[in-house]
Formats: sequence, structure tokens, C-alpha cells
Amino acid sequence: MENLLIVGSQWGDEGKGKFVDIFTDHYDVVVRYQGGHNAGHTIIINGEKYVLHLIPSGILRPEKACVIGNGVVVDPVALVEEIDLLRERNISVDGRLFISDRAHLILPYHRAVERMDEGGRGHHAIGTTLRGIGPAYADKYFRCGIRVGEVCDEDNLRIRCQHFQDQKAWFWGDALQQVIPTEEWASFYEASRIIKPFVTDISMLIHQWHTAGKRFLMEGAQGTMLDIDHGTYPFVTSSNATAGGAVSGLGVSPHFIDRIVGIMKAYTTRVGSGPFPTELQDATGRHLQEQGAEFGASTGRPRRCGWLDLFQMKYSCRINGFHGLIMTKLDVLDGLDSVRICVGYQLDGRRLEGVPQSAEVMGRVEPVWQDMPGWQGRTREVRSFAELPTEAVDYIRFIEDFLQTEISLISTGPDRGATLENPSARNITGFLRRP
Ligand code: GDP
Ligand code: IMO
Ligand code: MG
Repeated sequence: MENLLIVGSQWGDEGKGKFVDIFTDHYDVVVRYQGGHNAGHTIIINGEKYVLHLIPSGILRPEKACVIGNGVVVDPVALVEEIDLLRERNISVDGRLFISDRAHLILPYHRAVERMDEGGRGHHAIGTTLRGIGPAYADKYFRCGIRVGEVCDEDNLRIRCQHFQDQKAWFWGDALQQVIPTEEWASFYEASRIIKPFVTDISMLIHQWHTAGKRFLMEGAQGTMLDIDHGTYPFVTSSNATAGGAVSGLGVSPHFIDRIVGIMKAYTTRVGSGPFPTELQDATGRHLQEQGAEFGASTGRPRRCGWLDLFQMKYSCRINGFHGLIMTKLDVLDGLDSVRICVGYQLDGRRLEGVPQSAEVMGRVEPVWQDMPGWQGRTREVRSFAELPTEAVDYIRFIEDFLQTEISLISTGPDRGATLENPSARNITGFLRRP
């Protein structure tokens, strides 16, 4: 199996965690390259549920190595909490977890700044996870960030943290100092000490392992429409969640990536604010939310739900160059009389050629719909393509035709086993068989 990259093709929460777990069997190393603990990836193994935020899902398989790349922002306190939760479940990270010395730290003042900034935006708030992600990336690019490698010298780390906190306080005023309890700094330094043994030069390590023949699975967080450049800016996260992010976020050549697979839900969801052309604010929307248990894995917020937006998916396929797609949550559409697919955007009576740059314009577009019959038979837990209702197969074929991209695998429930292979898939195959 060649090095494989998994990317969210919509607004996140497509079911990446489930498929990283399924694919992990075929790889030696699982890596994360962007985002932080804003992500929430749910994995169900033998009926037991695990939710991972920062550590790659490969950690659940004892023999796999897990890497956090330089493109990630790391909150040491959140990381240590995640490590402890895993230890409570007898999963050790020792000798298996490697964190880039070039990744940036999320500091207590990042969370404080974000609370103040989001509050100040009023009804223009982005609806972030309030975990300090945006401010940490902003400092990285403003060249006043502190990198993970700095935890190796605590005296110096303390001096730098104090310096930048003073600078922030100068900008934000006394209010900033008041909202950071001293205990937050104490926990930060303690956690920084704990993560020290995991810190290393990741690009070099990956290179050495690659030369030795190890195989890599790259796990994206968030999704294409949350990408800082290609998403619905400013209602996005602060990193490159698209395929390109893997290269800069790990320190590897584009040649390193052999295959790219996009995860897409059979419908669309988004958490937080921002335009959502196919959103359903009616009984069908509530039906999707209930059937799909659409509540955020990180913040517990209800996810907004709507029909599948294929016009946006076409854009996502272009940006990422998917070799294949995996469609999740097909079962959530079971029992509907008809299903709708957005195949274009219209603005003031004119068809748009592409996804608009402006979130304001995106908020005004009207979807062009393709209606299709729903299916009364069940797809839930169905494990073979031949057993899918004809209308569900038509739905899949329509999407493949429109996107000119194969749907390699289909997911019909949260469990590992509730997955089936598309017999006509050519690019992404063989993953349901154990190596
Ligand atoms: P991620 O962030 O992309 O890893 O996705 P999340 O874990 O945040 O959200 C996906 C949710 O859908 C999780 O609760 C999964 O257990 C669940 N899930 C994944 N695939 C399926 C599926 O095919 N059907 C159903 N009903 N649930 C699924
Ligand atoms: P996974 O990896 C869905 C959303 C937030 C908010 C915006 C910016 O589980 O798919 P941030 O805290 O990142 O600055 O918030 O991005 N968001 C996600 N939505 N899934 C995620 O991750 C997300 N991570 C961030 O809700 O709208
Ligand atoms: Mg998620």
C-alpha cells in the first residue's frame, strides 16, 4: 500500500476517524499535519467509543507509530489530558508518539484572546471552538509564536512566554491578564514538562522511516470548506485542511503522497457560523440531525444539516485531486420519500461558474436542485453493494458521474464492519481486507 492521504471534503465531521482506523491496518505510521484539538474524530472498535482530538487515531492500534507534524498547533494541557484518557483505557503512547519540534504551542493567552475576539465580533462571530487555534496560528504567521521545541528549555520557555504575554497585554489591555487564571500557566508548564520526551525533528524521522520502507497514512482534520484559503472565509479554521496542507505540515515532498482519498457525507453538515446554501431549517433538517446524531464530537454543539452539495464537492475534488471518495452516513437518508442534490449555484437568476470567493455572496446563492427518489429499504449496516436498494445505487452513480470521481467505499453505520466496497472502484480498493 502506498502512502495515503485522507482529507475531509466538506465542512468537517465527515467520518474521517472511522476510515483512518480502518486503513491503519495497512500502514506503519499515522500522521496529523494541521489543526489542533478543535478536531473530534470518533472511532468505534468492538462497540467501544473513542474520541480523539489531537493524537492521530492510529494510537488505538498498539503496534503503530503516531506523528504530530509541524503544521499542527499543540495545546500541551489538552494533549496530556488526551494521553491520560488513553492510559486509563490501557493504551500507552510511550515510544509511539512523536511531536514535531516545529509545531506551534497554544498558550493560555491564545484562549483568552480568542474569547475576547469572538465576543467582540457580536453577530459576526465565527463560532469557533474557543480552543485558541486561530490566535496560535496568527502568532505563528506574525512571527511571535512559540514552538514545541522550546519546551526542552523551561527557563527560556518561561522568559519567552512572559515576554509575549506582556506584549499581548499591551495590545489588549489589563482585561487580558484578568481572564487568565494563574493555575492555567501552572498547568501549561507542567504539561510542557510531560510532553518533552515526545518532541523530535519529524521531517527527519519521516524521511528515515520512509527510506527504511515504512508506509504512512496521513490524517487530515476539519475539511476543505474550512480551509483557511479555499473555505468559506472568514468562517473557516486557521489552517490548510486541504491536501496541500500535508506537504508543508509535515516537511515532505509532494512526491511523498501517492494517493488522496476524500471523505464525504451523503448529505452536508457544518458546525459554527457561515454560509450554507443547502441548509435545511425544517423537519427534514431535524430528521437528518436526529438520524445522524449530528452533535459536535469536540464541543457537543448541534451540527447544522442540509442536502448534499455536489457543486461544492466538485470544487473540493478540484482543489484536492481525490483519487477516490468514501461516502459515509448513507444510512441516514434511509426512509426519505425523495432526496435532493445541489448541482449548481444561482445568483440573481444567473448560474455561477464556480464557488464564490465571498461568504456574503455565498450566503445569497440559490441552489439548483436535482431531485431523486428516496429509498424505503434499509442501507443501515448493509455490508455488500448488491444488497443496497436500487435508488441508493442510483444516488451513488449520479454522484460519481457528476464528480467524475469514484466512490470507492460506502459507510452504512458507525461501526467498522458497516462498510462496503463499490465493485466498480479501481483507485482505492482492498482496504476492507486485512493485510
Ligand atoms: P470526523 O471528525 O470526520 O472524524 O467525524 P466525527 O467523528 O466528528 O463525526 C462522524 C460521526 O458519524 C461519528 O459519530 C461517527 O461514529 C459517525 N459515523 C461515521 N460513519 C457513519 C455512518 O456511515 N453512518 C452513521 N450513522 N454514522 C457514522
Ligand atoms: P473535525 O476534524 C467541524 C469549525 C468550528 C468553527 C470553525 C473555526 O472533527 O472534522 P476553530 O476553533 O477551528 O478556529 O473554529 O471551524 N471546526 C470544525 N467543524 N469539524 C471539525 O473538526 C472542526 N474544527 C473546527 O466549528 O466553525
Ligand atoms: Mg469531527
